Amino acid sequence: MIETITALDALRERLRGWRREGLRVGFVPTMGNLHAGHYSLVALARQHADRVVSSVFVNPTQFGPSEDFTRYPRTPDADTSGLEAAGCDVLWLPTVESMYPFGVELAANVHVPGVSGVLEGECRPGHFDGVCTVVTRLFNQVQPDVAAFGKKDYQQLAVIRQMVADLHFPIRILGGAIVREDDGLAMSSRNQYLGADERPRASAIHRLLHHMRQAHEAGTSRAVLERQATARLDEQGFTVDYTALRRPDLSLPDDGEPGPRVALVAARLGNTRLIDNLEF
Ligand code: PAF
Repeated sequence: MIETITALDALRERLRGWRREGLRVGFVPTMGNLHAGHYSLVALARQHADRVVSSVFVNPTQFGPSEDFTRYPRTPDADTSGLEAAGCDVLWLPTVESMYPFGVELAANVHVPGVSGVLEGECRPGHFDGVCTVVTRLFNQVQPDVAAFGKKDYQQLAVIRQMVADLHFPIRILGGAIVREDDGLAMSSRNQYLGADERPRASAIHRLLHHMRQAHEAGTSRAVLERQATARLDEQGFTVDYTALRRPDLSLPDDGEPGPRVALVAARLGNTRLIDNLEF
């Protein structure tokens, strides 16, 4: 049976017990409204740990003023039973007041320069500060041996890895593969905002990522490839934030330079903002 814990003292007591038994702790932080992508992270954490803690906390500090914090889907009952079925041992449910004891305005803020500033960082100013600020708190609360983050939020994973290395968190970060719907759409809590007419069109992003890969492999320059990718999505009715070809660390590759790449896309269909990426 999964145990739901809402007070930090009780969480620490449970963790102390596990540590006394020499058990390794895995952690999967989430904002709830869980789907198969999240549950695959619980399974991944389980492969590297004896016990798994998952948190559900819709973090106000990572949403911009015009973003969807208040309407972000909250499904606590389904999340609890899904986590139990996925093999999670403890569901950690902090409140906004306990997470930010001095209030959000006076919260100590964690900023990771460099990798936070590009792509999502340009489109969503302050977003990664909010993510790093809450993940630092969650790491201090749970003190896991390993923590799993999904590769769908590719840049978030890069920012967290940088933060963990820079601040010497003794935590191994695991990246979980993107889980997709049958038509290729990356699973996301925000997919449910898509209207019935929009949902079938949303898989164009995944197809586009494969086109970007083919264009790169055919020798198309980065600038041309990105321009063509943006035009293609525009034609299909998306409002594009960016299409990007980058090195795995998100720096700009030189044309003709060999090595691994990641193609990343952020685009809006109606009111729904979708992000996806493909490594190759
Ligand atoms: O990826 C998410 O759901 C969130 O950004 C995280 C890591 C749980 C921090 O709030």
